[in-house]
Amino acid sequence: MTSDARPRRSALYLPASNPKAIAKARTLPADIVILDLEDAVAPEAKDDARKAAVAALESGSFGNREVVIRANGLDTEWGARDLAAIAASRADAVLVPKVNSPEDITRYHNALASAPEHMQLWAMIETCACIPQLDPIAAMAASTRLSLWVMGTNDLAKEMRAKLTPDRTPFLPFFSMAVAAARAHGIAILDGVCNEFRDLDVFRAEAGQGLAFGFDGKSLIHPAQIDPCNEIFSPSDEEIARARAVIDAFSLSENKGKGAIRVEGKMAELLHLDEAKRLIAITDGKGPNA
Ligand code: COA
Ligand code: MG
Repeated sequence: MTSDARPRRSALYLPASNPKAIAKARTLPADIVILDLEDAVAPEAKDDARKAAVAALESGSFGNREVVIRANGLDTEWGARDLAAIAASRADAVLVPKVNSPEDITRYHNALASAPEHMQLWAMIETCACIPQLDPIAAMAASTRLSLWVMGTNDLAKEMRAKLTPDRTPFLPFFSMAVAAARAHGIAILDGVCNEFRDLDVFRAEAGQGLAFGFDGKSLIHPAQIDPCNEIFSPSDEEIARARAVIDAFSLSENKGKGAIRVEGKMAELLHLDEAKRLIAITDGKGPNA
């Protein structure tokens, strides 16, 4: 499965210092598990959390889930040790916080020099400084391990001194800009977390908004958010049927070489064929328990 064709509907954070949460995450239906060493871990627990995250990947299976470790920044006292430990671990990716510039991506990429080739670099988009540089940061995907962004709406709100209202109005321009920059350079992008984990109506509204903005999925903080998130970010039966119809129609010999055709009364162009193929690849992709 190529990275672009894997389901990345739901990405559950958990503090790597919480063994109960780690045990639980091995069976939860999240597409991605993010073992956090950063914001969710207190300074005095950082060293133990790092060891626990690495050990969790050695000691048991996470099925087909992508497992990611979020490091502390290289500008903190823990960052260099985190990056070294993650580079030598079985993680699929390292998620790095508070990226401000393309130079930051280079620094993290270089810190992973000894890591296996398949290890990806994922970056949090969560500082005011990165906003005017979204395009050059995304462009680093061509020359580094960078392959995915995660919106960090809590940190962005703190830096901006903006309110995290349910409609998320202060952040909407940045969502559009970040999705466009990510797409321009072929990287995936996940929405930020919804702190309201007891009210799933609030969560659903926010996840639906993220879907409408073009995010591939959403980062989550609590197991209760996984099912609604997977549901919202999965293509509907109608969308799947339409995609199959578009693919079938373009494969007919009479449609060979055509750029635009009629499929079930609606126009389909080659761009729709590309979209249809991606949607089917994601739909047919293995779920987290495969
Ligand atoms: N991943 C895996 N399991 C989790 C979990 C998570 N993110 N959050 C809660 N659980 C587990 C709990 O361990 C508990 O398990 P149990 O039934 O076996 O005891 C169960 O789910 C119910 O938890 P609940 O009592 O509803 O939540 P809580 O009050 O214990 O915890 C939070 C609430 C917010 C502290 C917790 O959900 C959490 O730590 N979330 C992740 C925070 C994080 O990583 N932040 C960084 C990125 S923003
Ligand atoms: Mg943060």
